Amino acid sequence: MNDEQFLTIALPKGKLFNLSTELFEKIGWTAEGLTEKSRKLVITNEEKKLNFIITKTADVPTYVEYGAADIGIIGKDVIEESGKDIYELLDLGFGKCHLMMAVPKDKKRKNLTDYSHTRVVTKFPHIAEKFFTSQGMQMEYIKLNGSIELGPIIGLSESIVDIVETGTTLRENNLEEIVSIMDATARLIVNRVSFKLKFDRINSMVGDLKKILNDK
Ligand code: PRP
Repeated sequence: MNDEQFLTIALPKGKLFNLSTELFEKIGWTAEGLTEKSRKLVITNEEKKLNFIITKTADVPTYVEYGAADIGIIGKDVIEESGKDIYELLDLGFGKCHLMMAVPKDKKRKNLTDYSHTRVVTKFPHIAEKFFTSQGMQMEYIKLNGSIELGPIIGLSESIVDIVETGTTLRENNLEEIVSIMDATARLIVNRVSFKLKFDRINSMVGDLKKILNDK
């Protein structure tokens, strides 16, 4: 799979998938059958010597850190949470969102520190812990893998730490943002060894992508 000649690109399922393939299409990097719904998980363009792999969002940094994928596209939030040793090459600008703490509107407390020693449900326990510790707060972290907003609604936790994009999910679940923790956008990441071994190819791709991004 990791043929020297080939470049393997990890793309996350979900919100960033179409935005990522659209961007690669603009530099002529595509492959037949490359859709999020594809049951085939490795999609190859023999002519351009490209392999696209479709992975779970949170797994992209892992594939790239171990060199199973040379490059990947993933949100800054997921990179931070993963703590993986990868190079970040480009801020792609799309997939804008922010990570924040929210609580049920009718259970809002006066100060942030009034939530000390309560439970928080999140997909991002590392970022959350770093943030609350910086505020001098000790919390109990419960990791869930999706539908985070359910946590306080069904009494699993007092609050959530989650991503907000449009704000619709918060509104529809009567939750209110208490504090913003970090902003995020999609990033192009690369395996450290691949960046050295396949430098020319990766560098010229970065140049092409920069042109596209600057033209916007
Ligand atoms: C993310 C996030 C929120 C929602 C926010 O979930 O966890 O639930 O999007 O977007 P909004 O502000 O535009 O409503 P995702 O769709 O990735 O699914 P998940 O709940 O399975 O994690």
